[in-house]
This record gives sequence, structure tokens and C-alpha cells, in this order.
Amino acid sequence: MRRVILAGTGSGNPKKKVTNDDLTAFLDTSDEWIKTRTGISTRYLATDETVVDLCVRAAEDVLSSTGMTAEELELIIVASVTQDKIVPNTASEVQAALGAKNAICFDLNAACSGFLFAMSTACTYVSGGVVKNALVIGGEILSKIMDWSDRSTCVLFGDGAGAAILTAGEEQDTPGGDKDKRGIVGFRLGSDGAKGQVLLLENRPVINPYTGPVKEPVHYPYVHMEGQAVFKFAVSTVPRSISELLKETGTDINEVACFVLHQANLRIIHSVAKRLKVPDDRFMVNMDKYGNTSAASIPLALDEALKSGKAKKGDLIVIAGFGGGLTWGSMLIRL
Ligand code: UT7
Repeated sequence: MRRVILAGTGSGNPKKKVTNDDLTAFLDTSDEWIKTRTGISTRYLATDETVVDLCVRAAEDVLSSTGMTAEELELIIVASVTQDKIVPNTASEVQAALGAKNAICFDLNAACSGFLFAMSTACTYVSGGVVKNALVIGGEILSKIMDWSDRSTCVLFGDGAGAAILTAGEEQDTPGGDKDKRGIVGFRLGSDGAKGQVLLLENRPVINPYTGPVKEPVHYPYVHMEGQAVFKFAVSTVPRSISELLKETGTDINEVACFVLHQANLRIIHSVAKRLKVPDDRFMVNMDKYGNTSAASIPLALDEALKSGKAKKGDLIVIAGFGGGLTWGSMLIRL
């Protein structure tokens, strides 16, 4: 088993910034409602960018911050629910754009937990010696799956991409292991498919010569969310996942310098902080700028935490999230 090091992070955002006030031009909403209920002030929305464009921006950012070349990458995983195409997968298109010709490439869908699931998958490949360097990206253009007349969902989400590179460290006997040494210490993931209906995005229906006449008009599907049910799920599951992970790794919560959670709602972050009995200022917050960017949200927050000095080299940090599926997870990392 090899130790798995977080070598660096990167961000890629669309150019167009949209304020809460901008949305009031076509929606019965207000800056005051959005800010007080969610903590969101602005979001970036794609106009002429694709998901691949945003992922490539984030990938170039992390490559330049780590000083690595694209050819050193042996694995690329993109977590997304809004890929530009079904085939080829986004990771392969990112590979082609970067010239990362030595990488194996696939996409993964675990909704807003996608980055965590992709990080844990890449971690397993690296720790098992399958690959040495892995690029993990969460990238979304959620604005294309929003019903822009539904104020209860469309104000919440934004577009963007965040990336991280995991690289192989020294040999060790067990995965994770010594939490004083740099690297991924451990992770916990969970899923509950029986409750998946609370956050839904249908795919196209089955229509072929044998299915009979189409009963309803075929339309583009949009996100449907039962906001309060997702809220309740998040504030109970995330603290439990983090507590279990800390217990499993023999970590006192006060050793954790920074918590980087999925940026869905500031009230969710405050509630998680309260349940864990941790001051709010140990939690990274940037949903005010980006809104909820689903799989991109954790890497965008992690990148900002690292670049702003909120999380520093040598710190022990937790990244944690929740989302459609239902899915959730947490990961403990020594930077
Ligand atoms: O990453 C995916 C995970 N998703 C989430 O984490 C979302 C979790 N849920 C939430 O963040 C919150 O439930 C929301 C922000 C979605 C909604 O907040 P809420 O406090 O649960 O509000 P609500 O749905 O109970 O709505 C309260 C009122 C309603 O009006 P009435 O029925 O009280 O008259 C809504 O129609 O607010 C109204 N409302 C709005 N008003 C102005 C809903 N959306 C808006 C809006 N602007 N954009």
C-alpha cells in the first residue's frame, strides 16, 4: 500500500457572474430571501463555455500549481451530472485537450458527493499501485438542467469546476495510517437509494418502435428537489459521517484545522458546526460567490481554502458532502 498525497488543487469558472438582484429581472425572488435562506450572493453561469472547458481550466490550474505535466497523469476521473456528451466521457475529452496521453479516463456520477466518491476511487487506485498520479475533477453546468421559472431551485445553483491531483507517497502497511504524516488518512462513504426521490433529474424516456405511441410530450428534464427533506438529510448525515470517520482514525475533532463541506446552504454548514460543537470559523465558506455547484463545490472550496491560507500545509482537514442518490461521505487529509 502506498500513502496518497494531495499534491494540489485548481479552479475553473465561467466568465459570467450573476447577482441575486440580476435574477429578480425575471423571477419573483429577492436578494434578501436568497441571502438569508441560503447565504448565496452571486453565482457564475456558463454562456459560451462547455463542461469540458471548465474542467480543462481547473486541470490547467492544478497542473501549474503542482508543476506537473499532463503526461505524468495516469488517471483522470471527472465527477459530474451535466456532462456535455454521454459518449465520449468528459474525462476522455479533458485528456485530449490536455494531451494527457498516459491517463485512463472515466466519469462518475454521485451528484453533489461526486468529488468525494471520485477522490476515494482515485485514492484506491493510487494506494494500490495501479497508478502514480491521478487528476480528480468535479465539473458542472447546472444552469442547463434548471427550470428557470422555478424559484425554489434555480436561485441555488451555479456552474464551475474544481480539480485536485493525488500522487503516490511512501510505501506503508495499511491504507491511510499515520495521521501525522502528509496524505489521505481515511474516508467514509454512504448511500441510501431508497430515499433518492427527494432529489431527481430524469433522463430521456425509452422510445423505440416497440414501446407504442408516446403518451406525453417529450421535454427536457429539469432538477426536482424537495428542499426541506434534503436539508434534514444533510444536517443529520454529515455530522454523523464526520464523527464516525474521526473515531475510526483516532482523531480528536479539535485536531481538525478546517472543515470543507459541500457548499449548498450556509444554514446547513452552521447546523453541522453546531452539532459537531466546532466554531463556525473552522468551516470554509464560499457559496456566497459560487452558489451550489454540485460536484464542483468541494474542490472549489478546497482550492480557495488552500490559496487563501484558511487551510495550510501540515493541517489536518476534513472534506465532506452529501447529495442526490442519496449519497454522502467524508475524507480526512493531512495537507
Ligand atoms: O446539493 C443539493 C443539495 N440541496 C440542498 O442542500 C438544498 C437543501 N435545502 C435548502 O437549502 C432549503 O430547503 C431551501 C433553500 C431550498 C429552501 O429554504 P426553506 O427555508 O426550506 O424554504 P421553503 O422551501 O420552506 O420556502 C419558504 C417560502 C415559500 O413560500 P410560502 O409557502 O412560505 O409562502 C416558498 O415559496 O419561500 C418561498 N420561496 C422563495 N421566495 C423567494 C422559495 N424560493 C424562493 C425564492 N425567493 N427563490
